[in-house]
Amino acid sequence: MMDWDALEKMCMTCTACGLCATRHHVVFGVGPRDADVMFVGEGPGEQEDLQGEPFVGPAGHLLDDMLSIIDLSRENCYIANIVKCRPPHNRDPLETEQDACIGYLRNQVALIRPKIIVCLGRIAAKRLINPDFRITREHGSWVQKNGVWMSAIYHPSALLRDVDKRPETFDDLLSLREKIREIQARI
Ligand code: URA
Repeated sequence: MMDWDALEKMCMTCTACGLCATRHHVVFGVGPRDADVMFVGEGPGEQEDLQGEPFVGPAGHLLDDMLSIIDLSRENCYIANIVKCRPPHNRDPLETEQDACIGYLRNQVALIRPKIIVCLGRIAAKRLINPDFRITREHGSWVQKNGVWMSAIYHPSALLRDVDKRPETFDDLLSLREKIREIQARI
């Protein structure tokens, strides 16, 4: 395991997959490095690639609103992605690109030691919870893996496209708030 400085340095200059050829910025992740709650998306979009920060485009604005519903914000949770460089035209990151990048996220998780990880969308849920994860059926459910509570909710981009998914996501957010209360009551 690398410390934060070594990890960030290596990630910022990474050439382990083809995405390095088209990126403007590596999007490492943001937030307190002792956060209880971590959100993981799939990969940077256009704005994220230009600014070097996760979830700063349209989906990011919705994510901020979703966080605020349950009294979370960028000040108290860590936000990262499965792949740190933008896939061209926002296509899904390839399995090989995810394989090349996942070590950075695993190292981030090992350093942060979050109590809760929330996957944003199908790609992160399949990668972190279960390769057969079905987001439509399993969003909002909880599993514990290596002592960390894990769940997935719809990706904010999906909620922008399909507002009918929003009420279910509201329930999932309330369930997340409840889980946070549980783990914080235990400390
Ligand atoms: N979508 C993601 O999955 N991650 C981002 O950082 C932005 C949009």
